[in-house]
Amino acid sequence: MDDAVTDTPPNPPLVCFHNHLVPGVDDGARSAEEARDALLAMRDLGVRRLVATPHLSGELTERPAALERRLEEIDAGWDRLLGVADAAPEVTLSRGAEIMLDTPRPRLDDPRLRLGGGSAVLVEFSWGGLPPRVEDLLHELKAGGARPVAAHPERYREMRGRGVERIEEWRRLGVVIQVNAGSITGRYGREVERTAWTLLERGWVDAVCSDFHPRPGHAPLLGKAYEALLEVGAEEQAGLLFSVNPGRVLDGEEPEPVPPVRRGLLQSLRRRLARRG
Ligand SMILES: [Fe+2]
Repeated sequence: MDDAVTDTPPNPPLVCFHNHLVPGVDDGARSAEEARDALLAMRDLGVRRLVATPHLSGELTERPAALERRLEEIDAGWDRLLGVADAAPEVTLSRGAEIMLDTPRPRLDDPRLRLGGGSAVLVEFSWGGLPPRVEDLLHELKAGGARPVAAHPERYREMRGRGVERIEEWRRLGVVIQVNAGSITGRYGREVERTAWTLLERGWVDAVCSDFHPRPGHAPLLGKAYEALLEVGAEEQAGLLFSVNPGRVLDGEEPEPVPPVRRGLLQSLRRRLARRG
């Protein structure tokens, strides 16, 4: 799917704390050139603050030598990203990681494991299924002083249908809920799109980021997702989700409450038709 053509820039300065722009360290950008093009695409969409978040296994954090080796790899990639950063001086770059929560107590003392070196930690789970007692894991993280940020919960199978109710509990535990722009636009299929919109309708999403894995023909989809919210009259929510709240998370502040998005039957139908056409 060539989604680059429809991704147009929104108005406010955007903040994206989940993307894979560090080259050569995961399934994101493969080269410095690809990273530079991605950075320019983000800049053109109005992103002004960007935290690059390569994948990292939580289990590694319990093995200091292995962690150091992985972080050295990421350090080298980060240097390559900084080497092309001059192309987009409007964008403030910092680093973090997307931690796979595959261990009960990851060690997160190293600032390179946290978003911009602050207290927020971006976490994901295996596509194979959420671990049992996932809420205990999230609670432990919070109790240990980190602010867990759940990356793309709408994409997990367990969240389909009534499973989405679980997010209320995550929020009660103090977890920041980050939805992917592509989930809102349908990039990952109908089920994920439906879950993303249900979360928006409940007012349970705190931030929207790109989770951009640069590839030819792919776009960060931030503009397209922002536009989808404008289409349903959710301009206030769009500003909070794409700009204000991701910035607050990085600054160690509480995200602002996001009013539930109201989407009429007619608007849902129009989106479905637009997707077909
Ligand atoms: Fe990611």
